[in-house]
Amino acid sequence: MPLHRNSQSAAVAVKRRLAADVDFIALVELREDIFFMHTTLAGKRIVVGVTGSIAAFKVAGWVSNLAKEEARVAVMMTDSACRFVAPLTFAALSGERVHTSLFTQEGADVISHIQLAREADLVVIAPATAHTIARLAHGLADDLLSCTVLATRAKVLVCPAMNSQMYSHPAVQENIEKLKGYGCQVLTPESGRMACREEGPGRLPEWEQAREVMLQILAVPDLTGEKILITAGPTREPLDPARFLSNRSSGKMGYALARTAKRRGAEVILISGPTKLACPPGVSCVQVETAREMEEAVLEHCHQASVVIKAAAVSDFRPAMHFAEKVKKEQAELQLTLEQTTDILKELGRRKKKAGFLLVGFAAESQNHTAEGAKKLKNKNLDLIAINDIGSAHTGFEADTNQVTLLDKNGSSPLPLVSKEQTADLIWDHVVRMLEKKDKE
Ligand SMILES: Cc1cc2nc3c(=O)[nH]c(=O)nc-3n(C[C@H](O)[C@H](O)[C@H](O)COP(=O)(O)O)c2cc1C
Repeated sequence: MPLHRNSQSAAVAVKRRLAADVDFIALVELREDIFFMHTTLAGKRIVVGVTGSIAAFKVAGWVSNLAKEEARVAVMMTDSACRFVAPLTFAALSGERVHTSLFTQEGADVISHIQLAREADLVVIAPATAHTIARLAHGLADDLLSCTVLATRAKVLVCPAMNSQMYSHPAVQENIEKLKGYGCQVLTPESGRMACREEGPGRLPEWEQAREVMLQILAVPDLTGEKILITAGPTREPLDPARFLSNRSSGKMGYALARTAKRRGAEVILISGPTKLACPPGVSCVQVETAREMEEAVLEHCHQASVVIKAAAVSDFRPAMHFAEKVKKEQAELQLTLEQTTDILKELGRRKKKAGFLLVGFAAESQNHTAEGAKKLKNKNLDLIAINDIGSAHTGFEADTNQVTLLDKNGSSPLPLVSKEQTADLIWDHVVRMLEKKDKE
């Protein structure tokens, strides 16, 4: 939630309320007068436990990325892990000494596993072998990694990686279930071709997926219990089998909203037009192509939602005629007749009272931003509108950053130029406050 500078103490109070036992919220200063809470890896103490899997080399990349994002990374390795990757690699990438032994020669006041367990904001076991999973599931404590996992009160993320036959063995599956029962999070391995030349589940996921799950674990879950429907991307209105009418929407804003809402604990359905983006982990994605398909999907799912955000750039027009065969050059005289598509946002505005959801729209404007946004807020019966300036290279379509003005019945608040992910977090801060108010009414 955006907090004014003169209410820094309020910020601290909110921070305490939301994260009673762990200091994992980054209170980011965005502008002189605005603070907000943004989930980030920067400054977090991430303890990475590497075990003896062929995928250990991949985790060297994870450690490098964690360090780039300014996390404070400590690496501990099992004896087997040291046969796959030298501790020196992890030391160079993390910038810290690597922990390989339970019994160290350090001073009596430093007991490595207790210190690592206490410092950790998050313990990540990656790759996690079948052997280590079994030891953790049975509470064994015969090395540094297992002692640290037993001693920590931080969240633990276990990332299995092994041959697919090993992974599907009932003993391994039972041990994974046991770990879940103890409160560990488990990163589901990917399916695909493995180093042993077999195909199936057991591959360690890529960094982007692991990062997202780490951020989900570290986030403040202030959207827990909310069911959020988000639309994203453009639509394509076909003219013939080769051509369509579309727009420049990349889907980045809608996907950032879905990713951050999921991180903050919401159940998220993302209805997306064609984009190059991958469905964020844990989000239910529905892929559509045309405005008509978007309309059908939105109207089917909106009744279960407590919040609906329409970030998609739905085509306002479609070709009135669809040619079954490709239109030939010789038909150059062809006049293209367009017809209007359904105004989905307006239709949602009509339904929202009965269905009980909060309705948020986006407006892409190049001039008279606030006046145009205010018109749309009223005409479409919205609770909140995010007005996008599409006139600058740093905002709107395709850009990685955005600058929006939020407008509701209480007035407008211009947000600073930040990443689309930070913009999404600021929008959620605003929505959380609106939901709190709605609960009190
Ligand atoms: C070349 C090779 C690759 C291996 N890859 C894996 C693997 O991906 N996953 C796994 O669970 N075990 C794998 N193992 C077996 C483990 O290294 C073995 O179970 C070891 O005891 C694990 O010890 P740790 O869990 O203490 O690190 C592999 C063994 C070899 C020789």
